[in-house]
Amino acid sequence: MTSRNEQRLPHNKTINESNLMSKYTVNINGVQKTVDVNPDTPLLWVLRDHFNLVGTKFGCGIGRCGACTVHIDGQPTRSCLTPIVKVGQSRVTTIEGLHPSGEHPLQKVWQELDVPQCGYCQAGQIMTAAALLKKNPRPTDAEIDAELAGNLCRCGTYLRIRAGIHRAAELAVKESI
Ligand code: FES
Ligand code: FES
Repeated sequence: MTSRNEQRLPHNKTINESNLMSKYTVNINGVQKTVDVNPDTPLLWVLRDHFNLVGTKFGCGIGRCGACTVHIDGQPTRSCLTPIVKVGQSRVTTIEGLHPSGEHPLQKVWQELDVPQCGYCQAGQIMTAAALLKKNPRPTDAEIDAELAGNLCRCGTYLRIRAGIHRAAELAVKESI
C-alpha cells in the first residue's frame, strides 16, 4: 500500500516525498532566508507560507493574472510559476520590500488617488508598475497598458492604475530634485 506522500516507482520501489526536501537559502528583500522544501515548491508558497510575506497574492496559479508578481533581480516575475530551486542567488523583492517604509512613489500615490477597490490584485499591479518606472520613468498610456496587460483587475481599476502611474512618475521626478 502506498501512502499519500509516496510515489510508486518502476520495480515497485517507492520514495517518500519528504526525502526530496532540500534546504534553500534565498535573498528576500535583502535578507538571506533558509527554507526546507521540495525543489518544485513555487516561490509564492515559500513567501506566503514559510516567511509570512502575504502581500503577494495567489490568483490563478498558472501565470495568467499577475497577482503573484514579485521582482527577481529587478524583473517582474510570476512567483506562482517560479520553483524555489530556480531562484538561486537572485534577489527577490516583494511588495513588503519595495520601500523600507512603504513610501515608494507608487505606494504614496495609490493612497492619494484611492486606486484599489478590493485590493486583491494591487500588490502585483504595483510591482509591475515599479519595474516599468525603473526602466521608463515617463511612460505613455500605451506603454503602461502594454506593460500591465498581464495584471488583471476584477474590479476594473485600470484607469486609476494608469493615472496613479503617471502621478507617481511626476512625484518620483520631484523627489529626485
Ligand atoms: S497567481 Fe501567479 S499569475 Fe496568477
Ligand atoms: S482592486 Fe479588486 S481585483 Fe483589482
